[in-house]
Amino acid sequence: MNITWKAEYCTGIELIDTQHQHLVFLLNNYFADQPRLDISSATSWQMLQEFNGYADDHFATEERFAHQAGIEQSGVWILHKGSHDYYINRLREFRQELETESPRAVEKLMAFLSYWWVAHITGEDQELANLLTSYLVT
Ligand SMILES: [Fe+2]
Ligand SMILES: [Fe+2]
Repeated sequence: MNITWKAEYCTGIELIDTQHQHLVFLLNNYFADQPRLDISSATSWQMLQEFNGYADDHFATEERFAHQAGIEQSGVWILHKGSHDYYINRLREFRQELETESPRAVEKLMAFLSYWWVAHITGEDQELANLLTSYLVT
């Protein structure tokens, strides 16, 4: 599993794009290590911690932009924040599955991560960036 960065993933907001590219880089490193290593699901989860920490910082960056732009009450942002919250909850569920060594948990987690991030970056983050650029000079 590997995510190939494409030009159309860019939002035009430099900090967001830099962070997205680094998220994809960290995720690809995690994906690349999984099949080569004979590890437990719990260890696999530990290997994802750098990515998880960076993802938290990234969500905080988008929240800060939304606050600076004064769009926190807009429908676009409320749905966007809901999408981040959904992701955070799903990761919490995956963590439990991995800790109990549930079968194929790592495989399911990798599929979810790859699907969610590409869909979010190419969909909701583009919509957010359009709204932010109309309110912010970044
Ligand atoms: Fe994002
Ligand atoms: Fe986002």
